[in-house]
Parts: sequence; C-alpha cells; structure tokens
Amino acid sequence: MDFKKLQAVKVDREGDGTTIVTLNRPEKRNAMSPQMHFEMVDVLKELAEDRETRVLVLTGAGDSWCAGQDIKLFFRDLDDKPKERYLARLANHEWRWTLLSTFPKPTIAMVNGYCFGGAFVQLYACDFAIAADNATFGLSEVNWGILPGGLVGKVIMDGLSYRDAVWYSMTGEPMDAKTAAAIRLINKSVPAEMLRAETMALAASLSKKNPQTLRTIKESLRFVRGMSIEQAADYLLAKERELRFLDPESGREKATTQFLEEKTYRPGLGEYNRGNP
Ligand code: ACO
Repeated sequence: MDFKKLQAVKVDREGDGTTIVTLNRPEKRNAMSPQMHFEMVDVLKELAEDRETRVLVLTGAGDSWCAGQDIKLFFRDLDDKPKERYLARLANHEWRWTLLSTFPKPTIAMVNGYCFGGAFVQLYACDFAIAADNATFGLSEVNWGILPGGLVGKVIMDGLSYRDAVWYSMTGEPMDAKTAAAIRLINKSVPAEMLRAETMALAASLSKKNPQTLRTIKESLRFVRGMSIEQAADYLLAKERELRFLDPESGREKATTQFLEEKTYRPGLGEYNRGNP
C-alpha cells in the first residue's frame, strides 16, 4: 500500500517498531469524514501483519486529536444517500471497533488535543491512552440534539462508572485531561511537551516484550469481559494453551528455566531474557 497517497490519514514508521498513524484533517480538527473512515480501514489492515510495526500509536494532526464525526460530511451530506451512508457507516465501525480493538499489536492513543463525541470509540478501542494536560474531552452529542450513539454509549458504560457516564452524556460538560485521568477515561495526562516522549517510552517498552504474549493477553482481557465465571475460566485456560502452542520463542519455557535453574532474573521485577528473537 502506498501510504503517500492517503489524504485524510498519515502513516509514519519510526524505524524502531513504532508506527504512528495520524488523523490528518487539522483544518477540521480531525473530524471524521467518510474518506478518513475508508482510508483507516485500509491502513489498519495493512499494518496488522506489518513486520515493521510492533506498536501502533494513534494521534491527530495539529492541536486536536479528533473532533468526532464530521457533522457535514458524515451526517448531513449522507442523509439522502442511503448507499453512501451505508458504506461510510460500515467503514466507520470497521476501523474504529472491529479492526482497532482487535489489532494484533499494542495500540496507544496519544491524545494531543480535542477528543469529542464519536472519538471516544477509538479512544476505548486503543489499549492505552495518554493525553496532554491541555487536551479537552467531551460527550458533546447532547449539545446538538443527538445521543452518544455509534457505540459511544456502549464503550462509556463499559469503561466509566455509571455516575460519570450519565453525568458527562447528559450535561455535555467538557472535561480536562486531569479529570479524564481521575475517572480513568485515560491512563494518564502529562505536560504537552512531554506527550510524545512519554508515549514513545511506553511504545519502546512494549516493543521489547514477547509479541505473542502481548497479543494473547490483549485478546483474553477484551473478550473475557462479557463472560460468566465458568466461561471465563474455560476460555482463559484455552488461551493459555493456545499461547504455549503459538509462541514461536517459547517464552514460558525460557522464562521458567531462567528463573528456576539459571536464576538469572526476577519475574516480579522485570522480564526474561528474550535473546535475539
Ligand atoms: N464536524 C465538522 N466540522 C468540524 C467539526 C465536526 N465535528 N469540528 C470542527 N469542525 C470544523 C469547523 O466547522 C471549522 O470549519 P471551518 O473552518 O470551515 O469553519 C473548523 O473545523 C475549525 O473549527 P472551529 O470551531 O473554528 O475550531 P476551534 O478550535 O475554535 O474549536 C472545537 C474546536 C471545540 C473542536 C469545535 O470545532 C467543536 O466544538 N467541534 C464540534 C465537536 C463535537 O461536538 N464533536 C462531536 C460530534 S458528534 C459525534 O461525533 C457523534
């Protein structure tokens, strides 16, 4: 895929295993147009098994992360175009949920500014979220007469407390990044000038870990949420066996030998020596 042909998205491989995907409509605060949705579907499919990508960072161009759906291009312009609306909605769901939430590598939302409405879906689809102190979050749907639909209502009910989800949905009140961290909408907020360095440090530490283990942990945690105790116990046992079967570097065996016989590391304090996988 020729990333240079993209218009609403930018892809930068950093060369150290981290790939930065940037929503790239800064003049519209990175509001999501149908074109952005279509391009993101292609980009995520391309990067999923890309050998140079071990961690994906999702950010926005300029001073906004994402101002939600483009009210003109995604909503009003498609009102009377059922086929175009169907295809845009399909792509919108496919990249923000189907592809991003199950992306086979760790994903980090690097929130550099505004994050409104529909942007909460990709925020929750990412495994980690770090924001600049000056970022602003908001469930602004109520302010223009709609509800937090398109999965937003679901991800906030799963991810926030009932009180916070209802408060921010019904008041439409914006929140700053410190508040977002306090209610666990994001992992943490950092001074704007540190955002990139903090994100890259997390990405670097994740890219040193066993990728198959990370992938299985992520799948396990995401899917176990909707299960009963019995289903979860059985599923997690099956995932544990799957990991032993699939892991090309036999991490479990290596780690056990290094701990029990070689006594070369303390698993509670750091990871086993992966050598040169
Ligand atoms: N849809 C379409 N266009 C948008 C959107 C959007 N969601 N957000 C910003 N824009 C456009 C503006 O119309 C403007 O276009 P113009 O230059 O052609 O007039 C341009 O982006 C810049 O926007 P401003 O409002 O001038 O920028 P400012 O920095 O002052 O404010 C802010 C930014 C706070 C993000 C403001 O634009 C805003 O409130 N946007 C709407 C955010 C929102 O409610 N999103 C949820 C949408 S609903 C959903 O996602 C389901």
